[in-house]
Amino acid sequence: MHKKYRAALFDLDGVLVDTAKYHFLAWHQIAESLGIVFTEKDNEALKGVSRMESLDILLSIGGLNLNDEHKKELADRKNQIYVEYISKLTQKDILPGVLGLLENLKTKEIKTAIGSASKNTPMIIEKLEIKKYFQAISDGNNVSKAKPDPEVFIKAANMLGVETEECVVFEDAKAGIQAAKSAGMYAVGVGMEEDLPGANRWVTSLSELDHEILF
Ligand code: BG6
Ligand code: MG
Repeated sequence: MHKKYRAALFDLDGVLVDTAKYHFLAWHQIAESLGIVFTEKDNEALKGVSRMESLDILLSIGGLNLNDEHKKELADRKNQIYVEYISKLTQKDILPGVLGLLENLKTKEIKTAIGSASKNTPMIIEKLEIKKYFQAISDGNNVSKAKPDPEVFIKAANMLGVETEECVVFEDAKAGIQAAKSAGMYAVGVGMEEDLPGANRWVTSLSELDHEILF
């Protein structure tokens, strides 16, 4: 039997919206331009981690060592490609089960926040028209340590005025599950158990979640 939690913290990319595929496509283009073979399996390691760390992982796959100026140019180019994709997002891109869960949490007066590594969070939530559901946003613009560091979720809990152990985190990235667990939170992995070790439970989609168990 689970205890009931007071707050729900949501990762953004791959949990609320299927932008994970656009991150992959954008990195894939950068990889191709560098002659690096980059697969969807490789991409799992980039989920949840910051833009520059993602680039470092990509370069290590290709065995490349580039200077900071070149790296910044590649990261900027990746972001331009990515922003082009997400500029077309609409409410229809919200993942199944998300709006039902957010409405249910609102009715129950459970606090909600976003905890994302992305600096593009403000643009995405505006496109999806979901800002009204969240009392706090902790993202790549105000966090200095990337997941698996727990900073992003601890900040979100502080903004909401709740204790870390009162929070449930929804995450699709291995680094995000690690961040949630080191923050002392309950972690729901959105994805396959084998990709998300250490979570408390797993769902393949939020539409599968039995809300009453947690809130
Ligand atoms: C995370 C994604 O949410 O945000 C990562 O899972 C991404 O893949 C990271 O690298 C940073 O995103 P952005 O939009 O700031 O480049
Ligand atoms: Mg994610």
